[in-house]
Amino acid sequence: MSRIPRWIGRRRFLGAALALPFVSIRAASGQALQLTPACGETTDRTPAQTAGPFYMPDSPRRNSLVETGSGADRLVLAGFVLSPQCKPVANALLDFWHCDEAGNYDNRGFRYRGHLFADAQGRYRLETIVPGEYPGRTRHIHVKVQAPGGRILTTQLYFPGESRNRSDWIYRPELTMRVARKSEQRDARFDFVVTA
Ligand SMILES: [Fe+2]
Repeated sequence: MSRIPRWIGRRRFLGAALALPFVSIRAASGQALQLTPACGETTDRTPAQTAGPFYMPDSPRRNSLVETGSGADRLVLAGFVLSPQCKPVANALLDFWHCDEAGNYDNRGFRYRGHLFADAQGRYRLETIVPGEYPGRTRHIHVKVQAPGGRILTTQLYFPGESRNRSDWIYRPELTMRVARKSEQRDARFDFVVTA
């Protein structure tokens, strides 16, 4: 059983479709990250992947995992949580964890672990660092996503252009983020499609 944090608020959907091309999330750089999910009448659910051995429940609630003094490139990850009917999932829970820049997980505390909630329009935004690599895996971010009252989706997100993507047997192209590099920051985009 997952001990993912309990819900606050209640399950609800917005009835109207979003004006998706015109909605944006403001990245840390101050520039707007355009949100343009490719939605049809129904959209394939985001594939599930293993949580791996390093998940820890009860992560702190926060929008930034950045540690003071880290010299790693910053990563701003943003997007929507959507239903298969392409409706925004308000108040969806997203619980992230990843290794540090040296490829190590914090298995005693909560460095690079945290959860947050999508807003009323299903939008989420996380500030963190670009994680390192560790033996046997390409660069990735772990996440659990859950619509209020819905099933927990456990999956992983990947970076484009990584040479190890080709040799990592867990890697799936559908889980690759769109990433734009801006000097020492990368703006990443990924929309989750979950069963509400
Ligand atoms: Fe991992």
